[in-house]
Amino acid sequence: EPRTRIDPTDPDIYLHGIPHAEFAEMRRDDPVCWIPQVRGSAGFDDEGYWAVTRHADVMAVSRNSETFSSRENTAIARFQPDMTREGIEMQQAILLNMDPPQHTAQRAIVSRGFTPRAINSLRSALQARAERIVAEASIDPDGDFVTDVACELPLQAIAELLGVPQEDRGNVFEWSNSMIGYDDPEFSGADPMESAMGLLGYAMQMADERQTCPRDDIVTTLVKAEIAGEHLSVDEFGFFVLMLAVAGNETTRNAISHGMHALLSNPEQWELFKQTRPRTAVDEFVRWGSPINVFQRTTTHDTSLAGVPIPRGQRVAMFYGSANYDEAVFIDPHTFDITRSPNPHLGFGGSGAHFCLGANLARLEIDLIFNAIADQMPGITLAGPAQRLRSGWINGIKHLPVRYR
Ligand code: HEM
Repeated sequence: EPRTRIDPTDPDIYLHGIPHAEFAEMRRDDPVCWIPQVRGSAGFDDEGYWAVTRHADVMAVSRNSETFSSRENTAIARFQPDMTREGIEMQQAILLNMDPPQHTAQRAIVSRGFTPRAINSLRSALQARAERIVAEASIDPDGDFVTDVACELPLQAIAELLGVPQEDRGNVFEWSNSMIGYDDPEFSGADPMESAMGLLGYAMQMADERQTCPRDDIVTTLVKAEIAGEHLSVDEFGFFVLMLAVAGNETTRNAISHGMHALLSNPEQWELFKQTRPRTAVDEFVRWGSPINVFQRTTTHDTSLAGVPIPRGQRVAMFYGSANYDEAVFIDPHTFDITRSPNPHLGFGGSGAHFCLGANLARLEIDLIFNAIADQMPGITLAGPAQRLRSGWINGIKHLPVRYR
C-alpha cells in the first residue's frame, strides 16, 4: 500500500521553497510513489501519477522515450486545469510534446539556431545588454532584483536570437509573461490563451515575411532551408516561438534570481565569485534553483521502474527539484558551492532527446549577467526575504528586495 505524504505538485507546499525534507523521505522510502491526484482535467481526474524523485530514476525515464512518451503532454494536468482533449492535441504541435521520429526530425531543424556558433554570435550584443540592465538598475540605491535585473535579459536574448525588432519587444514580453504564472494571483490577471494567440500570430507573421523576403538570420534558416522538407512551416514556426517564449523566459530568470539569492545568503560564496568568477558557478545556480520543478511522461506499455510495476497509459513525473539534491549523487547537496565539480544536475532535463535546447543560451545569459553584477554592483545586499512564486511547476522567486549599493 503506497503511502502518500505530500502531492509534490501542490503549489502551496512551495511557498517557502522546495520541500526538501519531504523529497528526502520519498527518495529514501518510496522513490517511485503513486500520488492520487484530486484536481485534474482532460480525462485525468482522480487518476493520479507516479512521482519519481531519485536522480537515477529521473535519468532512466528521460532516456527512454519509447516507454516514457512526451506525446500526452509533458505538463501535469493540474498545471493546466482547463485543458481539454483538443488542447492536448494542439500542444502536440510543440517540440516538447513530440516523440521520435517526429521529434528527431524537427529537433534537427531547430538545432541549427542553437549551435555553439549561433549562440556565440549573440555574445557581444547580450553582453552589452546585460551591462546596460545592471547599470540602469543601480541608478536607484535599492529595488526588486527580479523585475529590475533577472527578467530582462532572457527575453532580450530570445528577441535577439529571432531578430525581433526593438519596437515589438514590449508586446512579446507581455504576451510571454501572462502565459506563465497563472497559479499565482499576482499574475493571473491576463488571459493566457489570448496572449498565446497574440504571440502565435506575431510569430507566424514573422515567418511569413521571411519566406517572401529571406534575410540572413535564424528565422529565415528555420522557415526556408534549401533542401525540401527540412524547414518549418509557418505554423510550426509559430508554435516553436511560443515554446521559446515560455521555455526561455521564466526558467532563466529564476536561475538568475536563485543564484543571486544564494550568493547573497552565503557571503563567502559571493566574495569567492567576485574574486575568481568560476565557470562552474552557472550550473550550481541551476542545480540549486531547479527552475523547472517537474515534467511528466506517459507510459506506452506496461513497464517497471526501480522494481515498481507501472501499467500502460499512466503518468510518470520527474521531479528535478528532488533529483538535484539526491545525496546518492551530490556530496553535501544542501551546501551551495559555486566550485562544485562534477555537477551532474538535471535542471536542464535528464539526458534524453528532450534535453534543454536552450541550455547553452541560458548558460551564456547567466554568465554575462553575473559578471556584469560583480563588476558594477559588488556591494549588493539583500534587503528583505525572497517572495516565492506560487507554483508546483516553476521554482520561482517573484520578488527579491535588494540594496544595490
Ligand atoms: C527543454 C529547463 C532555458 C528552450 C527543457 C527541459 C528542461 C528545461 C528541464 C526538458 C523538458 C523535457 O524533458 O520534457 C530549462 C532551464 C533553463 C532553460 C532550467 C534555464 C536555466 C531555456 C532557454 C531556451 C529553452 C533559454 C530557449 C531560448 C527549451 C526547449 C526545450 C527545452 C526548446 C524542448 C526541447 C525538446 O523537447 O527537444 N528545458 N530550460 N530553455 N528548453 Fe529549456
